[in-house]
This record gives sequence, structure tokens and C-alpha cells, in this order.
Amino acid sequence: MQGKNILLTGAAGFIGSNMAELLVNDNIVTGIDNLSGTDGRFVKPLLDNKNFRFLKGDITREEDLSSLGKFDLVIHLAANSDVRYGSERPLVDLNSNVIGTVNLLEMMRKNDIPEMVFASSSTVYGEATVLPTPEEYGPYLPISSYGASKMSCEGFISSYSHYYGFRGSIFRFANIVGKNSTHGVIFDFIRKLKNNSRELEILGDGSQRKSYMHVSDCISSILFIHEKLQKTDIYNLGNKETTSVVKIADLIVTKMGLRNVNYRFTGGIDGRGWKGDVKLAQLSIERLLSKGWKNRYNSDESVALAIDEALAQL
Ligand SMILES: NC(=O)c1ccc[n+]([C@@H]2O[C@H](COP(=O)([O-])OP(=O)(O)OC[C@H]3O[C@@H](n4cnc5c(N)ncnc54)[C@H](O)[C@@H]3O)[C@@H](O)[C@H]2O)c1
Repeated sequence: MQGKNILLTGAAGFIGSNMAELLVNDNIVTGIDNLSGTDGRFVKPLLDNKNFRFLKGDITREEDLSSLGKFDLVIHLAANSDVRYGSERPLVDLNSNVIGTVNLLEMMRKNDIPEMVFASSSTVYGEATVLPTPEEYGPYLPISSYGASKMSCEGFISSYSHYYGFRGSIFRFANIVGKNSTHGVIFDFIRKLKNNSRELEILGDGSQRKSYMHVSDCISSILFIHEKLQKTDIYNLGNKETTSVVKIADLIVTKMGLRNVNYRFTGGIDGRGWKGDVKLAQLSIERLLSKGWKNRYNSDESVALAIDEALAQL
């Protein structure tokens, strides 16, 4: 992607800061973030870049969006990204994710902004009975308010595309891992082991298996597909393989040079990590691969690299 004037929401977050770092080389990027999920340290190195402008703002507040002006493209990553939080406070997903997205779509309509890239999630599928799960799978029965909010956002993007003729590239992410991550299983395990190197609490029964994708592959596939799309469409992003939670724990323990760590499984509900956790998630990425894009790292390699990156940062 080159020469575009881009609005990047969630720019200070994990995927957003990696995206901003890449895009500023060849584009003008305005990053907006309310800093609810981060302290802003990941965008600090970009603040001196003449191609980057950072605004502290909240996408749920129309007034924070109304004066932003015209862009070629909105890359929309801002969201409450903590799936676990939903069972306690589902309205956060409604406000940050759904209302925030509709506000952005309105801003795009008023300013004739023709394209949006949207970060959706594998959680829209709920507990899919078809694995690996293709984009055509249905009906969607999300088991978290986070998944429900992403499903709703997809619907609004599709309807706005139909009404106003703009193009939405919707990407349903598997688990994205890598530099600048501040949540998720890798971050959680390292933090716990730094506090207590003798015992590791593992949510659920540890047999949960998910597909992990490195953030560099996530961004490269988004930009690759968005440039190719002619109309609003949906792509799964992930890896062909899965990695179990226990395997991640073993890798982290080894890489931290620890021995005889006692794993304490919380058991959870049916071995799930928490209410709303999907035990087995694997997306079909055949559509993505059929366009000629290839993963650089498989699921285990993505996890291993992300552990090294997290250990270097923490
Ligand atoms: N990381 C993953 O594995 C994963 C998987 C599926 C989907 N996603 C989606 O990808 C996107 C980026 O995720 P991430 O992992 O980088 O999460 P993140 O929490 O690191 O980044 C999200 C950013 O959005 C900001 N934000 C939240 N609410 C906001 C609001 N109302 N206004 C402005 N900014 C707001 C937060 O401060 C944060 O910096 C999110 O939409 C998330 O739902 C991520």
C-alpha cells in the first residue's frame, strides 16, 4: 500500500502499532486511540515521523470523529479486545465495538471515504461444528458478547457498503501474536511465571487448541487482500495448524529456562478457560491462500517467535 491518506483506529494497541510502523513508510497515517487498552508506549517511537499524527480520541464519541476530515481509507482496529471481559460487562462490547463502528461508518459516509478494513474475529462462528471453519459457515451463534459485537459490525459494514457504495474488507482473525501484545495466553503465562516460577495457573484444562498467526503475517495478508478486493468481502486469517495451551506453557517454561514448574489447571467449564472461551478454533484459510498469499510462520513458529518477542519486551 502506497501514497494513501489513512485513518487508523486503535493505533496505539498491539496490532495497530505494528500496522502504523509499517504503513508510515509509504503513506500518511492518522492514528486515533482512547488509550483504554494501552499506555501509548508503542506509538511513542512514531511520534517524530512526519508521516504520522496521533490523536487521543474515542470512537464512541461522535465529536471526536466529526472534525477528522477526509481520508482514502479507514483501517478500523479499535475495540474492546478482551473477550473474557464480556461475561461480566457485555455492554462494553456493544458500546466500544458496535456503536464505535457505526460512528465511524457515519463519519465515512459524511466525508465520502470509500474504503474500510475491519478487524473481525473467529469468535463470530461460536462453536463451529465444521473445522477448519470456512467463511460460508453458518448459522453464526457466537458464545461471547465480543463475538456478537463483531458479527453486528460486519452486518453494519455490509449494509453501509450496499447503501453508499463503499468497499469493506472484513478479516476474521484467529489468535494474533507477536511484538507489542499486552494480552492473551502468552503474555498471561509469562507474567504469571515472572511472579512465581514454581507454579503456573492454566485456565481450563489446557487442552484448548487454537490457530495462532504472527502479527507480521496478519498485517501482510490484510494489505495483500485489501489491494485485490473489488467489493465488500470476508476473509479468514490464521494458520492451517493449531497449537494447544499446554504446548504454549511448555515452550514458555523452556524458553525462560525454568524447570519443575507445577501446572495448576483451573478446570473451568468443560475444560474451557472462561465462560465464552471456544475450546477448539481453527479457521479454514483456503480462500486467503487461493489468492496467492502464503504464511511466513506456521502456528507453532508464530507462538515461538511471539514468546521470544514478549520475553524481550517484558
Ligand atoms: N489480537 C488478536 O488475537 C485478535 C483476534 C481477533 C480480532 N482482533 C481484533 O483486532 C483489533 C486489534 O486488536 P489488538 O489485539 O491490537 O487489541 P488492543 O487492545 O491491543 O488494541 C485495541 C486498541 O483500541 C483502543 N480502543 C479501545 N476502545 C476504543 C475506543 N472506544 N476509541 C478509541 N480507541 C479504542 C485501545 O486503547 C487499544 O489500544 C481489535 O478490533 C480486536 O478485536 C484481535
